[in-house]
Amino acid sequence: MPTTNNQNKFILYLAPLRGLTEYTYRNAFARHFDGFDAAVAPFIPTMAAARFKKIHLKDVLPENNHAMPIIPQIIGNNPADFIPLAKCLFDLGYETVNWNLGCPFPMVAKKQRGSGLLPYPQKIESFLDATIPAIPNRLSIKARLGRKKTDEILTLLEIFNQYPLDEVIIHPRTGEQMYNGQPDLDMFEKCLAVSAHTTVYNGDINDLETFKLFSERFKTVDRWMIGRGALVNPFLPAIIKAGNDGYTNKVEIFRVFYDDLFEQYRQVFHGPGHLLDRMKGFWTYFCRSFKDSRKIKKKIHRTQTLDRYLKIVDQFFEAEAQWNR
Ligand SMILES: Cc1cc2nc3c(=O)[nH]c(=O)nc-3n(C[C@H](O)[C@H](O)[C@H](O)COP(=O)(O)O)c2cc1C
Repeated sequence: MPTTNNQNKFILYLAPLRGLTEYTYRNAFARHFDGFDAAVAPFIPTMAAARFKKIHLKDVLPENNHAMPIIPQIIGNNPADFIPLAKCLFDLGYETVNWNLGCPFPMVAKKQRGSGLLPYPQKIESFLDATIPAIPNRLSIKARLGRKKTDEILTLLEIFNQYPLDEVIIHPRTGEQMYNGQPDLDMFEKCLAVSAHTTVYNGDINDLETFKLFSERFKTVDRWMIGRGALVNPFLPAIIKAGNDGYTNKVEIFRVFYDDLFEQYRQVFHGPGHLLDRMKGFWTYFCRSFKDSRKIKKKIHRTQTLDRYLKIVDQFFEAEAQWNR
């Protein structure tokens, strides 16, 4: 295990990854790994009250979230739908809710939701004007740099500065970039200069070295968010918190975690197809921690039946798996 370095007083958040970091994953993670202080839960879309069902809140129900503190996230652009949902989350015990201004997917963005709202500062301002006084929760925001241009955020930060936000999480890419290219660290630095709010850095923290580089460069930042890097390597948050990697038996620990995760999902999903699809989603990330990752990735993704999948994974852990870091 890594040794603890108490001088590292910073907050690490697990990023929201819809379809992956829901409560089943978060709880399994917390049973086997350490390092995250809290998670932002994947987004809940706003909808008209008549269409809203309790199932939409399943991921954030307190009974599903004993293991890790969470901040629920809402995606939407209409205060009339956002406000009742935020109130409902407050009644469930959530004093902070996060507003998603980052989702890059064209289907979402073209409805002026997520990163699709970033080119419209006036709409964002009227949303905040209507919403902030009307909700009992504190509001935090998770944003990208812009939809098309990296400087859209600078106008927005001036607007955010006028409101009592809890924190602003910035993933320094544009929506159109999706996950391509490098995060724009120069623009993130400009954001730090403009923002009056506590700013959280998010993006491409995939190893301890990168974290050290970023934290050296952004000395005022003491809140960091990690998504894909922790899915690939769940030891990473604890390694970052400790400042060193003292694990010697990663494959064994990972396998116990994986077995637990699989068992929990087996109980959640009805039907082997859904379970297999979800596991394939996880292996897209998991495989990257192992040597010869392409081989196992291909094998798993080609698999059509759960029986075959189970045999492949078993064989992999028994005979092939070697940690790659
Ligand atoms: C599959 C997937 C689903 C995501 N779902 C959400 C989401 O529900 N809400 C959100 O704010 N960001 C979402 N994101 C973005 C991540 O939270 C994060 O900002 C992004 O992955 C960059 O951080 P990373 O490099 O540490 O992964 C998602 C990303 C991926 C790849």
